[in-house]
Amino acid sequence: MNSKASVKFNEYGVPVSTTFDDIYFSIESGIDESQYVFLKHNGLPERWQNLKKQECFTIAETGFGTGLNFLLAWQQFLKHAPANARLHFISFEKFPLTVQQLQQAYALLPEVESISSQFLSHYPAPEPGCHRLTFAEGKVTLDLWIGDVNELFPQWQTQAEHKVDAWFLDGFAPSKNPDMWQNQLFETMAMTAHEGTTYATFTAAGVVRRGLNDAGFAVHKVPGYGRKREMVCGQYQGQVVKPETQSTDPQADSVVIIGGGISAACCAVSLHKRGVTTKVIAPNLADGASGNPQGAVYPLLHAEHTPLSRFYWQAFSTALNTYRQYVPEHWQASGVLQPAFNEQREQRFQKVASDLYNETTVRYLNAEETNKAAGIAIDTPALFYPQAGWLKPEPVVKSLFRKAGSDVLNRKVQSISRTTDGDWRVSLSNGESIQAKRVVLATGHNFNELLPANVEPLPIKPVRGQITQVKTTKSLAPLKMVLCYKGYLVPESEGIHCLGATFNRGETDLETRLEDNEDNLKKLCDNAKQPWANGLDVHTQRASVRATTPDHQPVVGQLCSGLYGITGLGSRGFTSAPLLGEILAGLISNDTLPLTDDALARLSPARFRR
Ligand SMILES: Cc1cc2nc3c(=O)[nH]c(=O)nc-3n(C[C@H](O)[C@H](O)[C@H](O)COP(=O)(O)OP(=O)(O)OC[C@H]3O[C@@H](n4cnc5c(N)ncnc54)[C@H](O)[C@@H]3O)c2cc1C
Ligand SMILES: C[S@@+](CC[C@H](N)C(=O)[O-])C[C@H]1O[C@@H](n2cnc3c(N)ncnc32)[C@H](O)[C@@H]1O
Repeated sequence: MNSKASVKFNEYGVPVSTTFDDIYFSIESGIDESQYVFLKHNGLPERWQNLKKQECFTIAETGFGTGLNFLLAWQQFLKHAPANARLHFISFEKFPLTVQQLQQAYALLPEVESISSQFLSHYPAPEPGCHRLTFAEGKVTLDLWIGDVNELFPQWQTQAEHKVDAWFLDGFAPSKNPDMWQNQLFETMAMTAHEGTTYATFTAAGVVRRGLNDAGFAVHKVPGYGRKREMVCGQYQGQVVKPETQSTDPQADSVVIIGGGISAACCAVSLHKRGVTTKVIAPNLADGASGNPQGAVYPLLHAEHTPLSRFYWQAFSTALNTYRQYVPEHWQASGVLQPAFNEQREQRFQKVASDLYNETTVRYLNAEETNKAAGIAIDTPALFYPQAGWLKPEPVVKSLFRKAGSDVLNRKVQSISRTTDGDWRVSLSNGESIQAKRVVLATGHNFNELLPANVEPLPIKPVRGQITQVKTTKSLAPLKMVLCYKGYLVPESEGIHCLGATFNRGETDLETRLEDNEDNLKKLCDNAKQPWANGLDVHTQRASVRATTPDHQPVVGQLCSGLYGITGLGSRGFTSAPLLGEILAGLISNDTLPLTDDALARLSPARFRR
């Protein structure tokens, strides 16, 4: 069940929470208040002017609300910080606003209009957990955590240990929202603080002053904004040094990525955002599973919240944010339909769409609505994913590598080994070799082949799949959305539809098979039971191999010093890869990751080594 904000707009147009009976921002001027309370009293923007090359400045906030503080920080950071510095804004929100509520609030904030409109077009479906979004070519990262700070902090704080540079304490007034101002908050602040960490808050309530003081923060009372008499701000008094982020030595910054698929491409983009250059080695780009003509992008939802579905809806937000910004020309926001096609599925789908997910994630359509949405007759109810869609994998992958500025070398890698000075030697098929401090293996189902002897192989299993391309027909051409059933059918592109896919466990043979086309066509006919599914003409076909894991979760993480891996993306690599790329680049750069400790452990290669 999602918690939603209960908001009314007062006579000044300012949003007011009816749950807490408190305003989101000042009726005098939200912008001026935010500037005064949160920026000025954290020494911003002055501190940003002095950031080092590639340095990341991290702000953590309690209570995202309308996102005003984020929008202002984003705007002012770009104005004042050196061009190659980054802002990481991490905010927590228990009662997320809807897009409509945000739009109405932003009418009062013309000063940040160009930024707020960008943000709105990427506002995620507010499902619980973290939504990692990046803006301004990766200079600004937002981790929007949906949930209660009291539950999230214990699972998040180790990620952010000593990495937060400034805290914005902006929950509603302690008298109206005592739950948020518990010791947990102050303890988390201390755990994530270093000797330069500051904080500011609009309140000067005793419980807050005492909590801050006990946690090791200096507490200074200063005049408040507008009608507020006092507020407090201060600095952490502990002697902890901020951990180093990535090295700024250009040679050490270059990372070798082995693989030319979507996982490698997303790693390259995420490293590029952090100023890290990449050398990519693969026989060809998009030559493996990532080279199909069309692919669907949608979250995996279960009838109850599971770690797997949590991962996928989190990944889905990052995927949308990435494709919309980096490859808008190849991203088709068509929507995806999952027709029920039998009674058992109908019941399950009703459960999925009851009140477990936000309506911007998924909705249940009756048969009539489904027909209208699909553009062709389906005649059964369906799950409808309004934000989902499809893309063309090959140009997406190539375009992402281009945008990452990767130096691409079309070679097969024979082996990797340690050099005597602790670097990695990557030996190529033509006898040449490349030396690197950091290497990422993004080699799909071939993952174990290149592992050095001292790293235990992972239980990656290949699953061969063949797609069939069919020519469109008069009755099929109006299909507007991807249909997902036991296979999938994508709307036409240049008169051709992609129909997927077979599933042969343990097979790696790339020869295409006529019987696989028949299998794909039969699956469509048997499921749809519609005249438009009959007698379709095959245009061509393609076979490739998925990399799967026993627990269906992908793998991302460090394998041993300087060697990283990303694999096991299964059947949904285009949904998961952008988030996995962010995680891998975050691990390499020592950033705060957009995951709870549990979720990270479930993705780690170490989970198989128990
Ligand atoms: C038939 C089929 C249909 C699919 N449909 C969809 C879909 O609709 N939506 C979706 O999200 N996902 C879909 N998937 C899954 C998706 O394609 C994969 O999850 C994704 O492409 C995996 O990306 P990857 O980069 O990890 O692996 P790959 O794309 O397989 O890339 C691996 C790369 O490693 C390189 N490599 C391997 N060994 C070496 C070596 N020794 N030296 C150098 N390079 C090496 C390969 O050449 C290749 O470039 C489908 C998969 C299949 C098989
Ligand atoms: C004053 S508003 C935030 C204002 C916001 N910074 C803005 O610019 O709109 C306080 C926010 O804290 C959120 N909040 C309250 N209690 C919370 C909790 N326990 N965990 C997470 N968020 C909480 C509220 O839902 C609300 O959005």
